[in-house]
Amino acid sequence: MDNWETLKNQCLNCTDCPLCQTRTNVVFGAGNPEAEVLFIGEGPGEQEDLTGEAFVGRAGKLLDDMLAIIDLDRTNIFIANIVKCRPPKNRDPLNTEQEACIKWLRKQTALIRPKIIVCLGRVAAMRIISPDFKISVDHGSWYESNGVKMMALYHPAALLRDPRRRPETFLDLKELERMIKKICIHTYS
Ligand code: URA
Ligand code: SF4
Repeated sequence: MDNWETLKNQCLNCTDCPLCQTRTNVVFGAGNPEAEVLFIGEGPGEQEDLTGEAFVGRAGKLLDDMLAIIDLDRTNIFIANIVKCRPPKNRDPLNTEQEACIKWLRKQTALIRPKIIVCLGRVAAMRIISPDFKISVDHGSWYESNGVKMMALYHPAALLRDPRRRPETFLDLKELERMIKKICIHTYS
């Protein structure tokens, strides 16, 4: 994909918000840009900042395990973040930073044209699904915008902090699997 490489190169050189001053690497995203399912996290952590790869730290390992439960991996999904540069000490990205960065995610989404978007955690769900999204109540439920189905899961970092939420997340993953089987064409083929 020509446009994809152009977009990636532009993004890797972005200095549109102050996070560019403290980052080591811009984390553009990981996986298959032709995927039917797009996962959206919050922002790079330390390992992601150091390597430039999305979800490679402890939360990333748990995400890989979660994906494996429903036969997904980085060949059949794409994983991106709301902000592409690490917020210092992993604080939540500021609204101003999210607003500066969201254009990259919008351009990625326009090229990927996913059928399903899965938000990982509160920050992504509030930005992508609804500003009044309540992750503890609304996780696992389906929303729709412009013909794209959207749901949120607990962020894997939240599951590491509070393993009691894992059974609910298992059910949410099975619901995601059901929807993929219903509306996606090549994810499981
Ligand atoms: N957490 C996120 O939200 N994104 C990453 O890429 C890594 C950890
Ligand atoms: Fe650019 Fe986004 Fe990085 Fe800010 S966080 S410098 S907007 S790529």
